[in-house]
Amino acid sequence: MIQAKRQITLNESLGADIYRLSIQAPEIAATAQAGQFIMVKTGVGFDPLLRRPFSIHQTEGDEIQILFKRLGKGTTLLSKLAAGQQLDILGPLGNAFTLQEGPCCLIGGGMGVAPLLFLAQTMRSRGITPHILLGARNKAELMAFLPAFQALDGSLRYATDDGSMGQRGFIIEALPALLAEDNKAKWQVYSCGPYPMMRAVAAICQHKWPCQVSMETMMACGISACLGCTITARNTNRKGGKYLHVCQDGPVFAAEQIEWKS
Ligand SMILES: Cc1cc2nc3c(=O)[nH]c(=O)nc-3n(C[C@H](O)[C@H](O)[C@H](O)COP(=O)(O)OP(=O)(O)OC[C@H]3O[C@@H](n4cnc5c(N)ncnc54)[C@H](O)[C@@H]3O)c2cc1C
Ligand code: FES
Repeated sequence: MIQAKRQITLNESLGADIYRLSIQAPEIAATAQAGQFIMVKTGVGFDPLLRRPFSIHQTEGDEIQILFKRLGKGTTLLSKLAAGQQLDILGPLGNAFTLQEGPCCLIGGGMGVAPLLFLAQTMRSRGITPHILLGARNKAELMAFLPAFQALDGSLRYATDDGSMGQRGFIIEALPALLAEDNKAKWQVYSCGPYPMMRAVAAICQHKWPCQVSMETMMACGISACLGCTITARNTNRKGGKYLHVCQDGPVFAAEQIEWKS
């Protein structure tokens, strides 16, 4: 893990308030695994005080890339940075997805698709062709990230909430049909997206198909020092605790580790 200022090599708007930002970070690019994230200092001085977490979207040579949506102060500042400027980053942090035998389904919604590109690329490099399901609010949001997945040349299905592109509705609706196509196979399901989507994915997979989810919480430190990122575990751990730190125990968990809230 490093904490350093590194040069931005690209910051491009993809539409729908979504940006792709590349950073020259050879130490992170060399070791990062799909599912891990970095903490980024988005401003100058103490405003905003806290770093913001972003999944590693992909690595290329000495560079790492994040895909982010402009939401509040931190991401607005990030969107204004240009190639050549320095960015203070900390990473790689957290655990990674674990690749398992069997046909794989990657299902992501909104900015949750960010770590799934890196995961899909990792799978392709090991000769695995994943089935990818992507969901977005509308065509503009989908088109911000779809081309990168289309370049993978695999099985890809997508949906938009408003039906402006692909199937209308939530992409989760396509999951049971895909898994039923090979009902006897030991599907491995990997998911990242809004909490209700991952909860629904976990419910569909329950008892039948192993499922890994990448959780998103608010994070203040990213290094297990502030306790700000806890979620409730289904079972108590060896020390009798019932909490998981998303930044250190995760962000990737087996779906059955989590006490899903309704
Ligand atoms: C492990 C991890 C990986 C992430 N990866 C990505 C990524 O690849 N791309 C991406 O766009 N975002 C990602 N996020 C979310 C990202 O960190 C937040 O969008 C960002 O911190 C918002 O900062 P801000 O200063 O712009 O917004 P703030 O001013 O802090 O907040 C603006 C609004 O965004 C909401 N918000 C802030 N943080 C989160 C969060 N973590 N989850 C949901 N809503 C939030 C706030 O409630 C508020 O409504 C990730 C979060 C985690 C924990
Ligand atoms: S973000 Fe501080 S403990 Fe996880």
